[in-house]
Amino acid sequence: MKKTYVQSEFLEFDSVDELAEEDRKLVYEARKTAHDAYAPYSNFHVGAIVLLVNGVTVIGNNQENASYPLGLCAERVAIFAAGATYPGIKIKSIAITASSDQFNIDQPVAPCGACRQAIAEYEHRYQHPIRLILTGESGKVLVADGIKNFLPHLFDGDSLKAK
Ligand code: THU
Repeated sequence: MKKTYVQSEFLEFDSVDELAEEDRKLVYEARKTAHDAYAPYSNFHVGAIVLLVNGVTVIGNNQENASYPLGLCAERVAIFAAGATYPGIKIKSIAITASSDQFNIDQPVAPCGACRQAIAEYEHRYQHPIRLILTGESGKVLVADGIKNFLPHLFDGDSLKAK
């Protein structure tokens, strides 16, 4: 038996103003699209925007349902729409943010476990890491190069094949 450790790497910025222009624009767009979320039950409005390697962006926001489990997170709305509309085009980055009617979100919003798995699928699909840019309504920004930083020992299509 031996103990092993998994390392994650994040870049932490004090505010959106410190980001490179491409990332900053994505955050602004993600914040805009969060306002269009359909979140009457949680009042937690999540916005996500996917940037493809060809420069096209695809937005998503959470879509809730009176039958709660049917709702879908912003990240999956965006990633699935990108996969459906631009099949075969690699995903470069995804920016994720949220706003709430009830409190100020001043911390980066991280993708839920299911969305981490969905993002992992698209990294595997295109054999290309996806850069994640996480923010709240204000405050710090976290950037990570690839979903493995959020999902160590991940399960993907390779797990279904003999090694
Ligand atoms: N939500 C997202 O859209 N993305 C996440 O990664 C976390 C949660 C949504 C789901 C639900 O509509 C609301 O936020 C509260 O959980």
